[in-house]
Amino acid sequence: MSAIGMGAMTITQRPDADVAQGVRAVHAAVEAGITLFDTADAYGPSGEMGVNERALIAALREHPDALERVIIATKGGHTRGPEATWGIDGSPEYLARAARESAQRLGLDALPLFQHHRPDPRVPYAESMGALRQLVEDGVVQRLGVSNVGVDQLQVAIDILGAHLVSVQNEYSLPQRASEPVLRLCEERGLAFFAWGPLGGRAAAKSIADASAALSGVASRYGASPQRIALAWLLGRSPAMIPIPGASRPESVRDSAMSPSLMLDDEDRRMLDGVVQ
Ligand SMILES: NC(=O)c1ccc[n+]([C@@H]2O[C@H](COP(=O)([O-])OP(=O)(O)OC[C@H]3O[C@@H](n4cnc5c(N)ncnc54)[C@H](OP(=O)(O)O)[C@@H]3O)[C@@H](O)[C@H]2O)c1
Repeated sequence: MSAIGMGAMTITQRPDADVAQGVRAVHAAVEAGITLFDTADAYGPSGEMGVNERALIAALREHPDALERVIIATKGGHTRGPEATWGIDGSPEYLARAARESAQRLGLDALPLFQHHRPDPRVPYAESMGALRQLVEDGVVQRLGVSNVGVDQLQVAIDILGAHLVSVQNEYSLPQRASEPVLRLCEERGLAFFAWGPLGGRAAAKSIADASAALSGVASRYGASPQRIALAWLLGRSPAMIPIPGASRPESVRDSAMSPSLMLDDEDRRMLDGVVQ
């Protein structure tokens, strides 16, 4: 798996999304060597399920060899309602159906990585995890991930899913480090930690340079964008860390893809550790 992934949500997130530009962004990611693409059945601008999964698979199919090189990591457990409202369903029946529908949409016999999107407070977490395990046993999915979890929930997932669990996807960025204990548990247990919102989300990503004078100062010293510096900082936080920056423009993807080769020196790293919290 590449050192960073691409958050594909961003290519269809807005009702006025430029689909052709999103396709170019996916192709730019493949060409830059990115092999992990994150999506979810619930992503899209509307209440319709599967919009983002369909857009991602169509873009990948248009690129020669892409499908042989990449891992599509989708998610299930969120629902969409009228007027694009968000809901949640962690029941075993719903998760079993959601995974099968995602596999069908993506044209895959088995999902390479199926992530439980978010714990459902109305369903004991162990029940949702039991449903995920069953999906592996039934051959619907190859590997499992969980998302938006605390340490206690992650421990339940580890106990029930064992070696089938390979990844955790939580929010983590310079300004948002609440998942630090989860990151450390991932490190201990050999799980990948996919950082969502690694640039602080769409609104903040645009102004991340303004948000921190320290970040802009470091960026100008390295001749790199503040976003690339922020991703390089994240990569240095832990060997488990795999940021999945979202992008709707090919330029963003190309720039982010250069972050793994940018080495921050210790002084700059320490300064960034101490700011934008
Ligand atoms: N598990 C969950 O509950 C959950 C929740 C939210 C998101 N996610 C996943 O995480 C992914 C990333 O999160 P996010 O999209 O919310 O936030 P983000 O990655 O922090 O920010 C995305 C924004 O950053 C901009 N950007 C990316 N790289 C850049 C660069 N090198 N230079 C300048 N701008 C850059 C993009 O701009 P352009 O659009 O202009 O290219 C995009 O609008 C999503 O796409 C999704 O797959 C998961």
